[in-house]
Amino acid sequence: MRTYVSERSRRFTESVIREMTRLCAQHGGVNLAQGFPDFPAPEFIKAEAVRALEGDVNQYAITWGAKRLRDSLVAKQRRFTGLAFDPETEVTICCGSTECMAATLLALVNPGEDVIVFEPFYENYGPDAILCGATPRFVRLREPDWSYDPAELERAFSNRTKAIIINTPNNPTGKVFTRGELEHIAALCRKWDVIAVTDEIYEHMTYDGAQHVSLATLEGMRERTVTISGLSKTYSVTGWRVGWCLAPVALSAAIRKVHDFLTVGAPAPLQEAAAVALESPPDYYERLATSYREKRDYLVPALERAGFRTFPPRGAYYVMTDISGFGATDDVSFARTLVAAVGVAAVPGSSFYHEPSAGRTRLRFHFARRRETLEAAVERLGRIKAGALSA
Ligand SMILES: Cc1ncc(COP(=O)(O)O)c(C=O)c1O
Repeated sequence: MRTYVSERSRRFTESVIREMTRLCAQHGGVNLAQGFPDFPAPEFIKAEAVRALEGDVNQYAITWGAKRLRDSLVAKQRRFTGLAFDPETEVTICCGSTECMAATLLALVNPGEDVIVFEPFYENYGPDAILCGATPRFVRLREPDWSYDPAELERAFSNRTKAIIINTPNNPTGKVFTRGELEHIAALCRKWDVIAVTDEIYEHMTYDGAQHVSLATLEGMRERTVTISGLSKTYSVTGWRVGWCLAPVALSAAIRKVHDFLTVGAPAPLQEAAAVALESPPDYYERLATSYREKRDYLVPALERAGFRTFPPRGAYYVMTDISGFGATDDVSFARTLVAAVGVAAVPGSSFYHEPSAGRTRLRFHFARRRETLEAAVERLGRIKAGALSA
C-alpha cells in the first residue's frame, strides 16, 4: 500500500510538551511544561496593536518586514550590540523565530551537509535539520554548569560542516555561553568557514551578572552569522508570531526568498506594534530580568526542598533538574506520574536529547508564571514528600 506521508515527516515525532499540556488539563494541574507566560503582555504594546488594527493595517506587509519595524530593530540592535545592519537588505521579519530558524536552514544548508547542535537542545532544531536534509552533529553540554568539552566540539567540525546553531541564553539548561566559549566557537567557524546561526530569543533574561554576548559582535563573525530573535519572550507575546533574522546581504537575500514562499509575511498590525515595543527604554529590560530572577529564586529552592536536584539557570526561564533522588529511571513515566498524582506538569528531559537515554533522569520546569501560579505549583510539589508520588 502506498504511504502518503513523506519520509521526511516520519523522521520526527510530535512534541512531548503537547502531551504534557493535555495531561495537565485533564488533571487540573499547574503547567510548568510549555514555556510561555500566563501573565498579561505590557499595556503599551497591546495599545499599539489596537491602534494599528483601527488604523486599518490589515493587508500584507512587505514580505521581509514592515519598514517601521526594520528601522526600529536595527536601531535597537545598534544600541545593545553596537552592530550596524542595513534595514533594506539585512533584515528579515518572519512568523516568530521558529520560522526564522527553519527559513535560515532551508536557505543556507544543502542536503548532506552537517549542522552542529549543542545538546540538550531546543526541540525544534532536530526537525529543522531533518527538513532541510542536513545531518545534525551533536555536542554535549555537561552538568552542573553545562559547559562543553572543547576537544569534542573541535572533533565535530569538518569539511562537511555548513552551520552551527548556538542558543544563548539556552533552553532547556539556562546556560549563558561565556565570551570565552563564544570566542572558541568563533575561531572554529572562521577556521572551517562555517556559518553560525544564533537563537537569542532569551537575550534579555540573564541573572547573577551573567552577560549575554551576541556572537556576531566577535571578530570576523558579523559576515558569517545569522542572528535570530523575536518578540515572543522579551515582550510576553508568544502568540503574536513576530521574529527576525539579521544577516549579511547575501544570506539575507536567500532567507527572504524562502520566507516569502513559506509564509509571505508576519502579521502586519503586530509588526507595527513590534516597532514601538523595540523602542522600550533600558529599564523595561531591567525590570523584565529582575522579575524572572525573582521567579527563579522562588521556584528553584522549592524544587530542591521537594527532592529534585537542580542546575540553577543563569538565563532564560527554565530549570533542568535531576530526578535520580526519587529513584526514577524513566523521565517520561515520572513526568506522567507527577502530573497525575501531584498536579504539576514538566517536560521529560529525554525530549531534549537525540538519544533519549541521555535525558532519562532529567526533567525541565519553566517559571514564566504569575507568583500565584508558582505558589500553587510549590504547594503541590510539597505533597511529594508526603508520599504523593508513590501513591
Ligand atoms: C530557544 C527557543 N527558540 C525559539 C523559540 C520560539 O520562539 P518564537 O515564538 O519566536 O517562534 C522558543 C520557544 O520556546 C525557544 O525556547
